[in-house]
This record gives sequence, C-alpha cells and structure tokens, in this order.
Amino acid sequence: MDVDPDGVPSLYRTLAGAVVPRPIAWVSTTSQEGVDNLAPYSFFNVVSYDPPVVMFAPVDDSSDPDGFKDTPRNVEATEEFVVNVVTEELAEAMNATSATLPAGESEFDHAGLERGDSKVVAPPSVAASPVNFECSLYEMVDVGSSTMVLGEVEWVQIDDDVTTDGKVDVTKLDAVGRLSGSLYATTRERFALERPE
Ligand SMILES: Cc1cc2nc3c(=O)[nH]c(=O)nc-3n(C[C@H](O)[C@H](O)[C@H](O)COP(=O)(O)O)c2cc1C
Repeated sequence: MDVDPDGVPSLYRTLAGAVVPRPIAWVSTTSQEGVDNLAPYSFFNVVSYDPPVVMFAPVDDSSDPDGFKDTPRNVEATEEFVVNVVTEELAEAMNATSATLPAGESEFDHAGLERGDSKVVAPPSVAASPVNFECSLYEMVDVGSSTMVLGEVEWVQIDDDVTTDGKVDVTKLDAVGRLSGSLYATTRERFALERPE
C-alpha cells in the first residue's frame, strides 16, 4: 500500500509503527513554581557528540493555551532538564508518569519515585535510573505541531553497575524502547555485525 500524507488524517500511526524501537527520554524538569515534573518522550535521539547534544520532541497540547505540555513549558522557563534512561525494571513507573496530573502534583510522587541529586542542573534525576544526562537548553525549534527541544549534556551520572572498564555496557543497562501503542521492546536479544572496512 502507498500512503500519501496529504490523503490521511494523520501519519502518526505509520511513523510510530515503523520507526521502531524508539529510545525513551524520561525527562525531569522543575517548574518556575518549584514543582518537579517527569514524563517520557520517545521522539528522542542523539544529535551530536561534539558538542554532546540530544533532542526530544513534545507534540503540541491542544488543551493548553500556549500549546505546550508541562515539560517544554518548564524547559523554556528554566532552560534545564535531565534525561533519565528507562530500564525494564522502571518501565511501569515510566508509564505511570505519562498520566495527566492536576497542576501542582509531581509525577515523582504519583509514581513513588525517589528524586536523585543532580550535579549541575536544578531539576532532580530519577534516582533509580542508571544513567542521567543533565542538560542545558541548546535550542527549541518549532516543527509544525511539535517542538524539538535540543539539550547540551553538561554532566552524566552513571551507576557503576551498568559499566564495564569505565564505559556504559549496553548488556548491563537493560534499556527499553517503545514500539507502537502499548508495546515495548527490551534490549536483551542482540547480534553483532562487524563494520566493513
Ligand atoms: C513511552 C511513551 C513515550 C511518549 N513519547 C512522547 C513523545 O515523544 N512526544 C509527546 O508529545 N508525548 C509523548 N508521550 C506522552 C507524554 O508522556 C504525555 O503527554 C505526558 O503527559 C506529558 O507530560 P508533561 O505534560 O508533564 O510534559 C509518550 C508517552 C509514553 C508512555
């Protein structure tokens, strides 16, 4: 079948179903009022390693007058956030933090998650997440009905448990990725391919 993006109401299902698995940025921010926010974003990836820049993309929230979800609103106001890696053990808690909560209620408390101390930014990390990227806002870019948030990694906290010889070991990390709808993938089944010369 062919799909003409102009001929369907939305290309969301095609994109979310075929661009898989997507890594998940579990983004913590703090609002100007001091409320700690936490939410998952699977429109997420690395953009550059020099400087180290990551991106995630909230889609517009049509119920908000500014069109912003809480995460981009807090990033715009404070210019800081933390990207926490989601492991299989944390998947249910991550999902719980995607709930829409009343203003003033923190997803950390809603999901029973302990806050970790960040080293160089104000928002807390997820203490149970083994890798925390502390980011400063690099740029926010309007892309139609989404906003691409680019963040420069200023500090990384890594649990020794997920390292081998001083490097992150993907076989110990146990990260999960998002498929589509309610499906997720683990990173347990792996295979190797040597790069050609
Ligand atoms: C695994 C997962 C991935 C998600 N990825 C995105 C995403 O990339 N962009 C987005 O706008 N919403 C995404 N969502 C929905 C948001 O997490 C949800 O709207 C959340 O309430 C936003 O929280 P906030 O308003 O505190 O930022 C995702 C939800 C889940 C469970």
